[in-house]
Amino acid sequence: MPELKLKRGDVVMLEGQLSLEVREGEVLISGGLRGKGSRTVIPRAKSVPLEAEGDALVAYTLGRDGKVEQLSKRTIPREWDALISEVIQQRPKKILVMGSVDVGKSFFTTYLANTMLRHGLRPGAIDSDVGQSDVGPPATMGLGIFEQPVAQLYEVPLSSAYFVGSMSPSEHMLEFVVGVKWLVEHGLKKADSVIVNTPGWIFGGPGRSLQLYTLETIDPDIVVAIQREGELEHLLSSVPRARVRRLPVSTKVRSRSSAERASLRAMMLGKCFEDAGKLVLNLWKVRLKRCYLHTGRPIDVGTLGVQAQIIHAEQMPEGMLIVTKRRMDKGAIRELEARFGHVRTIIQGSERNMMVGLTNDVNEMLGIGIIERIDYERGRMVVLTPVKNADEVAAVQFGSMRIKPDGEEIGTIRQGTF
Ligand SMILES: Nc1ncnc2c1ncn2[C@@H]1O[C@H](COP(=O)(O)OP(=O)(O)OP(=O)(O)O)[C@@H](O)[C@H]1O
Ligand SMILES: [Mg+2]
Repeated sequence: MPELKLKRGDVVMLEGQLSLEVREGEVLISGGLRGKGSRTVIPRAKSVPLEAEGDALVAYTLGRDGKVEQLSKRTIPREWDALISEVIQQRPKKILVMGSVDVGKSFFTTYLANTMLRHGLRPGAIDSDVGQSDVGPPATMGLGIFEQPVAQLYEVPLSSAYFVGSMSPSEHMLEFVVGVKWLVEHGLKKADSVIVNTPGWIFGGPGRSLQLYTLETIDPDIVVAIQREGELEHLLSSVPRARVRRLPVSTKVRSRSSAERASLRAMMLGKCFEDAGKLVLNLWKVRLKRCYLHTGRPIDVGTLGVQAQIIHAEQMPEGMLIVTKRRMDKGAIRELEARFGHVRTIIQGSERNMMVGLTNDVNEMLGIGIIERIDYERGRMVVLTPVKNADEVAAVQFGSMRIKPDGEEIGTIRQGTF
C-alpha cells in the first residue's frame, strides 16, 4: 500500500475511486476529524480534500480513475471558514444552502456539519436535492444526524425521509415544500441545528417558486449562497439582508457530466433494491395516498352492464373511477358518463413498475417500493421493497415514475392517472 507522510497544514486532494487509512496522527477529511485507524472509501466521480492536523501518515489504494494529489494550498475558500466560525459561535437553528449545480453545495453541507461536530455540536443535514439525493433513497428527501464525521454526505445515517414522488421536483412542488418543512421540524427535535441542502434549480418560474416558497416555509436564520457570479441575486433579493451570507465556489469543485449523474442515480436506485423482497399489502387496510384510487364509494360492478371488462368501480365527487381489463370503447364510456358523470379509467396492469413510498401510521417513510401488480378484485398490492414487515405499512404514496429494480428509469406517469 503506498503511503503519504504529511505535516501540519498539508493538503491532499483525494479523487475516487480510492480507499484510505490513517496510520499515524490526525487528519481532516471534508472537515471531519480522523485519528489513527480511521478508514474511508471515496467512490468514482467524487473528490474530497484531506488536511493534516499535525504530523500524519496515511496509506491508500487506488481504484479505477483514483488519484491522490498533494496541493500547495487549501481548497476551502477563506470566506467559508469565516462563516463557519460564525455558525459555531452563534449556533443558528436553521441554515439553508443555496446554489446552482456543481458549486459544492453538498460538500459545503458536509464540511460545515463535520466542523460543527468537531466543536461539540450535533448537526442534522437535510438533502432536498431529490435528483442527486445523498441522504435517503432517490425521489425522497432525507434527514441525517451527524454523530460521526463523514467524507461524503451519503454516509450520514438516515434518520427520517419524505417521499417526493420523482427524481425531478418539477411535478411535485407541493410534496417538495411540505416535505422540507416536515423534515426541518423533525430535525430540530433531534439536532442542535439543521442544514438544508437545496436543488440547483434556480432559474425560470417554477425554479424561482421552488426556492422562494422553500425559503418562506423554512424561514432560515442564515441563507448560505454559494455562487460564481451573482447568479443567485434574483432570489436573494427576497431574503432579509442580515440573513444572507454570500460564498465563493472553490476552485477545486469537480463538475459531473450528465452521463455521470445518470449513472450515479441508477446506482443509488439499484442499491435501494439490492436487498428488496416482495411484500403483499391489503388494500382494504392500507391507505392509498396521492391518487384517486380508493377515495370513492365502491360500486358493485355487477350493476354496470359492461361488467365483463370492469373489475373495480368507485363513485367519487368528481365522477366515476373504473379499472378495466382493456381499453373500453367510447360508446360504453359515454353510457357510463350519462349515469355517473365524468369517467376516469385505469387499465389493469398499468400500475406495473410504478415507484411508491411506504409510510407508517405517523407518516414516517419506511422505504420506497416498486409496484409489481395490483389485484383490484381481491384488494391486494404486491410491492418490491426493502421494507420487510407488511403490518408496519399504513399508507402507500403514489409517485410519478416508472422504474426497474436495477435502477433503470422507464418513464413518467402523468399525475392523476391513478
Ligand atoms: N471546497 C472544496 N474543496 C474540495 N472539493 C470540493 C470543494 N467544493 C466542492 N468540492 C468537490 O466538488 C464536487 C462537486 O461538489 P458538490 O457535489 O458538493 O456540488 P453540488 O453543488 O452539491 O452539486 P450538485 O448540483 O450535483 O448537487 C464534489 O466532488 C466535491 O467534493
Ligand atoms: Mg449536491
